[in-house]
Amino acid sequence: MNQTFRPGPAVRGTLTPPPDKSLSHRAALLGAMSSVPVHVTNYLGAADTRSTLDAVAALGAGIRHGDRRGELVIDGPGLRGARPGAAIDVGNAGTLLRLLPGWLAGQPAGGSWTLDGDESIRRRPVDRVATPLARMGAQLDARDGRFTPLSVVARPLRGIEYALPVASAQIKSCVLLAGLLAEGETTVVEPEPSRDHTERLLTAAGAGVRRDGDRITVSRLDELGLDAVHVPGDPSSAAFHAAAAALVPGSALRIAGMAGNWTRVGFFRILERMGAPLRGELETRATAAPGAEPLAELELEHGPLHATRVTADEVPLAIDELPLVALLGCFAEGETVVEGAAELRFKESDRIATVVDGLTALGGDLEATADGFAVRGTGGLRGGTLHAHGDHRLAMLGAVAGLASREGVEVVGMEAAAVSYPGFAADLAALTG
Ligand code: S3P
Repeated sequence: MNQTFRPGPAVRGTLTPPPDKSLSHRAALLGAMSSVPVHVTNYLGAADTRSTLDAVAALGAGIRHGDRRGELVIDGPGLRGARPGAAIDVGNAGTLLRLLPGWLAGQPAGGSWTLDGDESIRRRPVDRVATPLARMGAQLDARDGRFTPLSVVARPLRGIEYALPVASAQIKSCVLLAGLLAEGETTVVEPEPSRDHTERLLTAAGAGVRRDGDRITVSRLDELGLDAVHVPGDPSSAAFHAAAAALVPGSALRIAGMAGNWTRVGFFRILERMGAPLRGELETRATAAPGAEPLAELELEHGPLHATRVTADEVPLAIDELPLVALLGCFAEGETVVEGAAELRFKESDRIATVVDGLTALGGDLEATADGFAVRGTGGLRGGTLHAHGDHRLAMLGAVAGLASREGVEVVGMEAAAVSYPGFAADLAALTG
């Protein structure tokens, strides 16, 4: 589906972003691993998170939908009760693909499963989780050692200490889930902090997660006792409207009910640093109760932007929003550089290539580097056509680029947005009157 986004009226009003995708995946998975039924509110209704519900149902979880949108009760098979034999279709969901093997690998010995997904998933590496799980004793087999279909055969696991080769919350979470089922202790060492939703939820479920600097440790557990999970709004989805507000003169946007977890709001700090006037509370680190997710309340306006440098330590805290930093850079005074972000090449598309090529085709002056990109601000973008390449965040990037451009942008493949944010175009239309 092609959709054209014309140079925009200002972005004004209040946005309640859709439920967080990362937390929805985890609520479903940890819900299924729990011994007691888990009541989830505000679960994301999008293609990715439906894949996770289908997966846990195939593994033996009962799922009841409540009266309210996003309300679910997940009655799972428990920590060691995943039903063997299922062929799991993860669809487009990289988080499901990377987290689920951690649970499956430690099931009673001999259980086996295969995981596969769509064309984009088949290009995304799974050796990053297969390697540590094999060290723990699991038997995994991936196509060419790297890609799906991935088969997992459960074996008795032993705890390991694993230094993550990249700052990835997906790999961290996978190893921690396997650690609950392994003999002894399992420690993950992070090169940089990344989103910590798994640790928070495991803490809420009584798993006794210990953090000591960059080391996170879990031990073998008999049962997981998660009770209820409320999923806050997704900062990665809100970021699109926030960028639109920063770029279109006359905009004033309020964002309510968004997750204010400091490991997720790096983009908003970058936006503020580039000059967008931003008020409210972002840094809610100190007030968060164990297991709970803090909430942010923000107001932001259009402002003249200047270039910035995003360094490796910031990258995991804004990983999915870096395409938007490239777009902001096209409008900012000076040269915006993102470095230490080679991981972008392994997302739903190679986001260094697709973002640089996509925005260049709209009139931007960008250059790909080995581990990121450099953008020379040229005062704006002409517009044109942007191909989403099946990547939801690229489709939404094109829409925001269109709104901020001089001539508008036609997005080819806008339907990809439904992977994380089916209501995106409607929300943007409502905010632009
Ligand atoms: C996610 C972690 C990030 C992010 C992805 C969701 C998660 O991936 O890009 O969209 O929910 O853990 P990595 O942890 O592999 O960087």
